Amino acid sequence: MLEGIKSVRDLDVEGRRVFVRVDFNVPLDGQTVTDDTRIRAALPTIQHVMERGGRPVLASHLGRPKGKVVPELSLEPAGARLAELLDCEVLLADDCIGDGPRKVVTDLRDGQVALLQNLRFHDAEEENDEAFAKELLRLGEVYVNDAFGAAHRAHASVDALPRMMRVRGAGLLMEAELQALGDLATGTPKRPYVAVLGGAKVSDKIGVIEALMGRVDTLVIGGAMANTFLAAQGRSVGRSLVEEDKLPLARTLIARAEERGVALLLPVDVVVGGSLRDTEGRVVAVTEIGPDDMALDIGPQSVKRFGETLRIAHTVLWNGPMGLFENEAFAAGTFGVAEAIGAAQGFTVVGGGDSVAAIQQANMADRFDHVSTGGGASLELLEGRKLPGVEALRT
Ligand code: 3PG
Repeated sequence: MLEGIKSVRDLDVEGRRVFVRVDFNVPLDGQTVTDDTRIRAALPTIQHVMERGGRPVLASHLGRPKGKVVPELSLEPAGARLAELLDCEVLLADDCIGDGPRKVVTDLRDGQVALLQNLRFHDAEEENDEAFAKELLRLGEVYVNDAFGAAHRAHASVDALPRMMRVRGAGLLMEAELQALGDLATGTPKRPYVAVLGGAKVSDKIGVIEALMGRVDTLVIGGAMANTFLAAQGRSVGRSLVEEDKLPLARTLIARAEERGVALLLPVDVVVGGSLRDTEGRVVAVTEIGPDDMALDIGPQSVKRFGETLRIAHTVLWNGPMGLFENEAFAAGTFGVAEAIGAAQGFTVVGGGDSVAAIQQANMADRFDHVSTGGGASLELLEGRKLPGVEALRT
């Protein structure tokens, strides 16, 4: 996976401006960063560059402003949080190209960090525009990509720009992500290898399920997507979310698992409610879901059964929550599975925005071997797809 890609450790950064593409696409509440995980994850690379005498020029997107300046999507709060974490001055440029940023990076001194304004305030970023990339090129002499979360986007700062830079490489976070997830996708993970998939829709995970089917020993399916599989087996699931158009696909996947000797574990019980806002749920066996019930979490027997498999696994991949964990009444399944994976002896990897949010909420991130900062990027990598931001780093 990392073949032909230089590490930031191998680049000569001394006395140079180092353009570091980071993923500071963080949740905000007004001026406050409500989850700084992605900022913290970029610290080792930024610190490494500074310790080696380089001057970091950071660039990121935030949200989807669609080529317009949206003040609520300014990187200012992220810059303020970074300054606290690094305990140094972070100079925010008023734009990411033009005279303002050029002045900021020219005046940048050792011990300071420059942060460019949101790249997506320009359409040209998402259009992978060469002229825009050439403007960015003027801001650094070395290029480092540490934005694993954006590596699946063929955007100017991720694709066109590094191709123009002679000296380029991967940041420490990018390397860690590619090592952990790359091994699960294309390497030889230790067996038994168990993948736990959840989330609302089968349609979001088709590529991953198909790719994992040829690699894992057990596939555990929870979350609302399990309803589609239960319905495909002929069970009544009441008013639960089911993707009717994906029923034939679910049947094919069930048959394929059987052919390949992959154990496919579905919930044996669920927590049902009448609405997403219910404050209490009711546990029923999957054979007993009533016509007005909505399955909103997996039940305790399912957690126990999944846990037994996870205990003896040597590799575990988890992507997607087991239920509507944002509502306390339907959170026990997700947190129960998180506990079981956290206690597993094998190598454990968690990817995907929602499952990562769940373990952050439960303060459990340090119980896993690798917690990915990538949502879409981690899924695409697990599907075995090439990521533009990774390919552009190869020399
Ligand atoms: C993410 O949050 O997954 C990345 O920052 C990519 O963001 P995007 O889906 O808006 O491209």
